[in-house]
Amino acid sequence: MATKLDPIAEFREDHRKVRDGLLDIIKALQSKDVVKAREILGNLNVLVGPHFRYEEETLYPALRTLLGEYVDQLVSEHDGVISTARACLALLQKDTLTDTEAKEAANAARAILVHVSNCDGLAILSERLTQSELDDLGDKFAAARAKGISLLDWAATIRTTRA
Ligand SMILES: [Fe+2]
Repeated sequence: MATKLDPIAEFREDHRKVRDGLLDIIKALQSKDVVKAREILGNLNVLVGPHFRYEEETLYPALRTLLGEYVDQLVSEHDGVISTARACLALLQKDTLTDTEAKEAANAARAILVHVSNCDGLAILSERLTQSELDDLGDKFAAARAKGISLLDWAATIRTTRA
């Protein structure tokens, strides 16, 4: 039998990848390398689709026992991240950026970076879930990854709360 996915470890590992990707985007924009910034954002879009989906379909509902209605705040924070990511990706479709546009795109990346930092805090709360709840989270996280739908595709099609 395949080893179970550790939902907290994988959750945090995704955050590290997104953190590093966003910092690389900011760096690429400083040297006006739009192609590189676009490529990294495209990869992040694919990486975080299953992550967001797992959070909204599985993790947030599980955390409702601890966080109550604050869970709704997490969903609206996702609305913000999705629109920011969409705007940033649209901006990066250009071949060259003006200083203002490069700054705008870097600010968008920073806004998402703040969310990554906030989201990682949920790991400490998840530690209070029972082992069977954690096993279920692991299965659902793996299932979201297996479906492999990017963030913006998921947001445009399956996600019910529309940003
Ligand atoms: Fe997250």
